[in-house]
This record gives sequence, C-alpha cells and structure tokens, in this order.
Amino acid sequence: MDEVDQLDELMECRLNDGRKAVEPCTIVIFGASGDLTARKLIPAFYHLFADGALPDPFRIVGFARREKSDESWREELKAGMARFSRTKLDNSVWEKFAAKISYCQGDLNDADAYGRLEGMLTAFGEPRLRRNLLFYLAISPSQFGAVVEQLSIANLLKREEPSDEWQRIVVEKPFGVDLPSAEKLNHELIRFAHEKQIYRIDHYLGKETVQNILMFRFSNSIFEPLWHRQSVDHVQITVSEKLGVGGRGGYYEESGAMRDMVQNHLLQILSLIAMEPPVSLEAEAIRDEKVKLLKSIRPISPANAASQVVRGQYFAGQVDSELRPGYRQEEKVASSSNTETFVALKLLIDNWRWSGVPFFLRTGKNLPLSASEVRVQFRPTPHVLFSAECGEKLDPNAITLRLQPNEGIYLRFNGKVPGTSTQVRPVRMHFSYDSEFGAYTPEAYERLLLEAVAGDATLFIRRDEVETAWRIVDPIRKGWAEKPLTNREFYSAGTWGPVAADDLLAKTGHVWRDPQPVS
Ligand code: BG6
Repeated sequence: MDEVDQLDELMECRLNDGRKAVEPCTIVIFGASGDLTARKLIPAFYHLFADGALPDPFRIVGFARREKSDESWREELKAGMARFSRTKLDNSVWEKFAAKISYCQGDLNDADAYGRLEGMLTAFGEPRLRRNLLFYLAISPSQFGAVVEQLSIANLLKREEPSDEWQRIVVEKPFGVDLPSAEKLNHELIRFAHEKQIYRIDHYLGKETVQNILMFRFSNSIFEPLWHRQSVDHVQITVSEKLGVGGRGGYYEESGAMRDMVQNHLLQILSLIAMEPPVSLEAEAIRDEKVKLLKSIRPISPANAASQVVRGQYFAGQVDSELRPGYRQEEKVASSSNTETFVALKLLIDNWRWSGVPFFLRTGKNLPLSASEVRVQFRPTPHVLFSAECGEKLDPNAITLRLQPNEGIYLRFNGKVPGTSTQVRPVRMHFSYDSEFGAYTPEAYERLLLEAVAGDATLFIRRDEVETAWRIVDPIRKGWAEKPLTNREFYSAGTWGPVAADDLLAKTGHVWRDPQPVS
C-alpha cells in the first residue's frame, strides 16, 4: 500500500459502523412464486448471505398458493439464479443458503395457512426465528390488508412489539394509484402495524449514487454554499430508458410514466437534491427534510397542467437501429390509448433557498439512451470580458451527477484554449466511481433488504412522504383526464421525447441537456 492509499484509508470515515446489528430472524416472502422473488429478492439474499451480512441464524420462508415442496421451490429458485444473479452461482454457497429456505403453501385469506406458518416458525426451535420477523409483501396491494390482519390474528404481527422482538413489513411500489387509494392502503396497514414497522420500498433509494447525493452535498464545504437561488439558474433531472414497455403493457396502461416513475423515483431524487440539511443522519431527521421539501413544491392545478407539464407517447421508430413498435401497438395496450410513456415537468419550490429556480424533470421509455442524471446549471457570468470573442457561446457552469450507468460526477467550467487567440471553451473535471473505487455494483435490493433486516428505515418512504407525492401528481393527472394527446405530444421511438418538451424549456430560454453516452 503506498502512502496515498494509507492516507485514504485513514481518512475514510466509516459511517456504516453505526449500522444497527442484525439480529437472528425469519424473512417471510408472500408472493413466493412471483417474478420479483426469483428476479430480485432471492438473488439479493443470496449475495448478502455470501458476503456474511445476514444474521446467524436466519431462515427464509416462501408463502404462496401453489403446492410445492421445500425441495421443488429451492430448485425453482436455483434456476432463477442462473438467469438473474449478478454473479455466477457458487454451488457450495448455494447449498448452504438453500438449506435455510422453506416453503409454506397457503391461501392469503385462509387462517389455517397462517397457523401452519406459525407452526413452521416455532419448529425452527430457536425463539428469535419465531419472534423477529420480516414480512415481505411481494403481492398485489389489494391483498395487503387481508395479510396483515391474518398475521395479527395468528399472533405473528404485534403492533406494539415487546422490547425483545420485532416484526416489520416491507411493501413494494406501486403504493396506491392516487392519494385516496394510498391513504386507504396506509389505513389498512396501520390497523395492525405501527408506522415504524412499515418499510415502503423505492428501489432508487438503494442505488449507491442516489445515496451519495447526501454525502456529496453535506460532507463537502465547496458545493453547499452554491446550492441556492443566488447561484443556481435551474436544475434538470433526467431518467431516460432505452426500453419500451415490452410485455408490461397491461400494467403500464394503468400507470403511465407519471405514476410509474415521477411519483416515486424522480420526486425522491428531487427531494434529496433540494432538501435542507437534516439535523442528524437518523431516519426520521432525513425523512422530515424530504417531506418538508416535497411540501414546498408549488402545486400544479389541473388548469395549469398544460403549461407546466408535457406528456408524450412513442410511436414506431428505431432505437440503436432496432425497430420498435409504437406504444399503441404493444401487447395489451388499447389502440387509442392516451397513456403517457414520457413526462416532462417544470416544478417550482417555494422556499427561501429555491424561490424562482425551475426544476425540470423528465422521464420516458424508448429514448436514445438509458441514463439517469441530475444537472445543476449555474447562473451565467456577466459578459463584460469575453462577450466580444465568445458572445453567447460562453457555456454556463454545471455540475452533473450521473446516477447510472457510468456513475460519476462532472464539473463543467470554461478554460482557455491554448494558443495566441483568446478562445474559451468548456472543459470537464470528471470523478468516476469505477476508477476511484473499482467496479462495485451491488443491486439496490441488497442494500434495501439489509437495511430492513437491520431496522434502519432511512432508505424507505414514510407515510407522509408517499401521500405528499400523490398530492403533487394527482391534480396533473386530473388535468390530463379525458384530453386526447395532440400531435406535439407524440415522439418517435429513439428520440428525446416530443417537441412539446422542448417548448416547455424554451419558454424560459432553456434547453434540455441530454445525457451523453460514455465510452
Ligand atoms: C421501475 C419501473 O420502478 O423502475 C420501470 O416500474 C422502470 O418501468 C424501472 O423501468 C427503472 O429502474 P432502473 O433501476 O432500471 O433505473
């Protein structure tokens, strides 16, 4: 190790040392036969196990309706690992891991099945595997209420947990389809569980780069003094995807990009980028600031939706020279569907820090590149010195946080082109995660599941957060209802969205800065 590495090691402040210890527990997955279990949950638990991050002892129990034995379920999961694991399966690790997995057959509404589950947990013979329980609801939200009720009746879930045991419930998005349905779900859950026992997942919060937003802002002294309306001209948040809706047409018809991406992932990124510093790194302190920020977003009324929000839908086109069908030609999509596959919106934040600074957010399917980034663009310099030579071409300074892929941070500023003439052009300083830390790419689910097992709710969405997000989104959707898409709202697959999205920025003299491929 050279001197610089030694110094780096000394300087590294290991915040994770403060992580709560993981206690022996059983993880019960409802919806054990589903796609999420095979695709995300089991690979994530396998990797956590391989890294020695899971408690000792622990068990995983899958609960689902189909008849199968422990053995046949393990075989099924093993086959899923071959398809979905981010690493090659190590058979000896798998054998040890699989020995901890059991299957409980039952209907979600059948009280006897919960009795069988209770018997199975008791039969593990270790009291903590019966008392400390993480319930993962990988099932339709319409079934959440019934499951927590049955768990409570079977004495598996206690709303007031005694101090020597815990039970937690992890739920997936979509958490409701609007504010009333989200409130209803919350009511159903809190009848039998305390808010602090409920862990609502937004997988974007499990991404390293999204977590780094807080570190970047609050562990440095050079950026935060610029992070406000005196210095920032505007902010762009882009989450673009090259894929179309593929086989998910049925789900997507109901959700559209606004519910699928904006209500959760994009508003989460925005709240981390724009929130005030929390009083501590405690979950509640961070979540308080995020909610405060979301509540400061100026509401967009249905009548204003047309001037501040653009929706779009792709028609047939080419992405990377591959032909893609139009959205209306996708499987399970109505031929006259008005569902949006693209959204761009301008949000204003009514607080002292951000008053008057537009935040432009956009997301879409079948765009030219899959990339998520946040671009903070600073105010232009006064043109007194370089206007004759460079005029309008003097590029504004910007910091771009590239969240995925090619994770990193760019600082864009102007420099003199070497030579005898006074030429200025933008140059970039670039921090890349891969070159600095090596390729380290755990799945977001690994981090989130570990936090849930450890009982740290920082990376999960609190009830008021999810409800506030729906309050922002609902009036916009209401403004769209019954209004067919116009020509300016369609875009060809493989382009950066409809022209109406460019118009949205042009009104205030701005242009979208598209994420660039990184070679
Ligand atoms: C999911 C959406 O929540 O996020 C998908 O339902 C979307 O439509 C996905 O493709 C994007 O996640 P990621 O991690 O690939 O950026």
